[in-house]
Amino acid sequence: MAVLFLSPSENAEQWRDMLLRFDPNIDFRCWPETGRIEEIEFALVWRPPAGELKRYPNLKVIFSLGAGVDSLMREGDLPPGIPVVRLVDRGLTASMTEYVLLHVLRYHRRVPELEALQRRQEWKPLAYPLPWERKVGVMGLGVLGGDAAAKLSALGFDVAGWSRSPKELPGVSGFHGDAGLIPFLARSEILVCLLPLTPATAGILNARTLAALPRGASIINAARGGHVVETDLLAALDSEQIAYATLDVFHEEPLPSDHPFWTHPRITVTPHIASATPPQTAAETIFQSMRLAREGRPLPNLVDLATGY
Ligand code: NAP
Ligand code: GLV
Repeated sequence: MAVLFLSPSENAEQWRDMLLRFDPNIDFRCWPETGRIEEIEFALVWRPPAGELKRYPNLKVIFSLGAGVDSLMREGDLPPGIPVVRLVDRGLTASMTEYVLLHVLRYHRRVPELEALQRRQEWKPLAYPLPWERKVGVMGLGVLGGDAAAKLSALGFDVAGWSRSPKELPGVSGFHGDAGLIPFLARSEILVCLLPLTPATAGILNARTLAALPRGASIINAARGGHVVETDLLAALDSEQIAYATLDVFHEEPLPSDHPFWTHPRITVTPHIASATPPQTAAETIFQSMRLAREGRPLPNLVDLATGY
């Protein structure tokens, strides 16, 4: 089978080696060296150029090399009728949960304040609540948010989650839909965003929603930059409505060198590394789905093109 690999990442060779371990007959083609385009059955893509995927007349399935498919959802950009599968992978999930725990614990244990004290050589023990006295909110209770919420709950935090449809996760108070948003935010001292970027969630972290958080809340956005209205976040930090923000994703990536987030004393910037797709696990995940597709069996983790995730 001919498989097209189309991604700006530099690990194409690693992907080829991993996939060929499962089937040495895979004809792995790295874009733009496509060979005869009629032979391409599967495309493994991350942020493909506009219109590119419409060029392959015999494409069976498009596999996203990431969990988020927002960059594939441009109007009229996908070949009609071709299923899109998003990445659900244990390596990707483990890394994201690690990132969330790292930054939630950092705010819970007041590490930014301790670091400021150290810079002033000031010995000042800071009190911190017990984990069950700390309210953490996770926006998006899907594969990634659900795992992070469960692990936060296992650490003893008072965890709530917000989703589109009602969700019952052990140890997590569930809120959903428009009606659940403000009550969910009102109890979230540390807010984690793990929503997909869709027309319904774009700009969801804005003046209104940031104001609904408890005063002095911290936010961690590991989802997409488009969830944040940047000027509203800066204003909420200036007014100290928001104490700290950890941002992994941005409207423009790489974050432009003159962007105010870089130097803001209460913003932590990470370069979209909360969870990078690991070929070591994801190649097998995708290979198994390609096999299902060839056998004409139902595919897991299909993107609903109507909701955009
Ligand atoms: P997922 O399994 O599809 O889960 C999405 C969750 O968001 C679901 O709980 C869904 O609700 C909820 N949701 C969607 N639209 C909503 C709305 N309008 N209102 C309320 N809740 C809504 O996605 P995932 O695999 O967890 O991934 C989440 C996102 O993480 C990705 O889309 C991507 O943008 C981001 N990500 C970032 C990185 C990074 O390195 N920074 C890495 C991987 C992923 P329902 O449960 O009701 O459907
Ligand atoms: C990374 O951002 C992903 O969506 O997997």
